[in-house]
Amino acid sequence: MTAELRERSGWADEIVGEVVLTSDEIQEAVKKLGKKITEDYHDKNLLLVAILRGASVFLADLMREIHLPLEIDFISVSSYGHLTKSSGVVRIMKDLAAPVESKHVLVVEDVVDTGLTWAYLKQIIEARNPESVKICSLLDKPETRKVPVTVDYVGFTLENKFVVGYGLDWKDQYRNLPFIMVPKKHMK
Ligand code: IMP
Repeated sequence: MTAELRERSGWADEIVGEVVLTSDEIQEAVKKLGKKITEDYHDKNLLLVAILRGASVFLADLMREIHLPLEIDFISVSSYGHLTKSSGVVRIMKDLAAPVESKHVLVVEDVVDTGLTWAYLKQIIEARNPESVKICSLLDKPETRKVPVTVDYVGFTLENKFVVGYGLDWKDQYRNLPFIMVPKKHMK
């Protein structure tokens, strides 16, 4: 990011690490995704399900780029820890507020990394008999997959880098950065 863009962002130099995606780049990608989803779901009963808390920022922008009547809901999951993470066991911390029957569910995620979260969620949502279940993820890191999953809508494909901002956190912070960056060493 140029010094000018950094200054415009209002964030201090000590915090801003290697910027991977600027706010403008993200907004442009969100617009494109919204347009495609608007076309694909124009005749469907659309329910966006955002995975808390990382997808909150993305959902807020994406839903306003989808020019269709739609509903939103939220789900929160956490992995059971190291051992079970590799087996793909994910715990639901907060479940959906309403049934998904007769809805076309589009899960909104910040990043698909190992694929374990998406593989698990897809299974449990499908078991509730929706019309369809797909995913729209702002970021995709295909190099780090542990399970083969399809990501239906992708904003950006990233190499294996840990990033923060635009909803993505490091120890629950930095979600409010308007851009996406690799955190500086001293922050980790
Ligand atoms: P996975 O696909 O099951 O590995 O889970 C994806 C989840 O891992 C995301 O929703 C994030 O919470 C977290 N995650 C993966 N990569 C990153 C990253 O680069 N920054 C912050 N969180 C990440």
